[in-house]
Amino acid sequence: MIEGAAKIIARSRFLIAFTGAGISAESGIPTFRGKNGLWKRYRPEELATPEAFARNPKLVWEFYRWRMRIISKAKPNKAHLALAELERMGVLKAVITQNVDDLNREAGNKNIIELHGNIFRVKCIRCDYRENLKESGRLEKFLEDEDFPKCPKCGSLLRPDVVWFGEALPEGALSKAFNLARKSDVCLVIGTSGQVFPAAYIPHIVKDNGGYVIEINPSQSGITPIADIFIRGKAGEVMDELLKKVEELRG
Ligand code: OAD
Ligand code: ZN
Repeated sequence: MIEGAAKIIARSRFLIAFTGAGISAESGIPTFRGKNGLWKRYRPEELATPEAFARNPKLVWEFYRWRMRIISKAKPNKAHLALAELERMGVLKAVITQNVDDLNREAGNKNIIELHGNIFRVKCIRCDYRENLKESGRLEKFLEDEDFPKCPKCGSLLRPDVVWFGEALPEGALSKAFNLARKSDVCLVIGTSGQVFPAAYIPHIVKDNGGYVIEINPSQSGITPIADIFIRGKAGEVMDELLKKVEELRG
């Protein structure tokens, strides 16, 4: 399986990766679905919708600050590092991720499309104020605070710059991702249940254009029926081996 996938990747013309929460599981970040998933313990409609935020911003901010704390301590794992190496080698052209955890950037990837936003960014609910808390150096202070974060420009509430249920994806990100998918001949799908659309169209676009879909996941997903190669396993372990094989093949 891994050998076959490595051959396809080594020969690819325009490889893209499409990733979900499972790629960050080995970094200690909980996934959404599955037996220990966040949406088993919490109801998304109470925490991840604009209505929930309007109703109870305190609860929503508690949930997001908790996730930000976990994510800010997490380090990229072997799967993120392998994707960064594949990009450096010139093999991987882009990472299209549903994750908000910034771990692809931490690992060293440059061409990253974040379909669902980034948990370290906040934005004002009223004006155009946006802030990346990592870049502004305010992250630690922000995580210690218990109060509602307020916009320094207009005083309204700040919210996480992530996509909630029922919201449109960030302008530009989706069309960029679709354009990359249309150009791509191989899509490497890692750690996603493939149940959330429009993101989950990405591998379908590649497949419909005659490209290959290679999937890595310990369980079958919504993408598995269209996968040419399904590698059952954990992202970090499989990607480490896959990278070594691709390096061998490319000499
Ligand atoms: P899910 O939680 O739906 O799915 C995680 C997938 O990762 C499952 O298919 C698992 O089998 C797999 N998995 C678990 N451990 C793994 C490991 N070590 N290596 C590889 N795979 C592993 O997460 P997503 O598909 O990312 O949306 O969910 C999609 C969207 O739903 C998220 O972006 C989020 C959520 O609601 C928004 O925030 C808008
Ligand atoms: Zn404002």
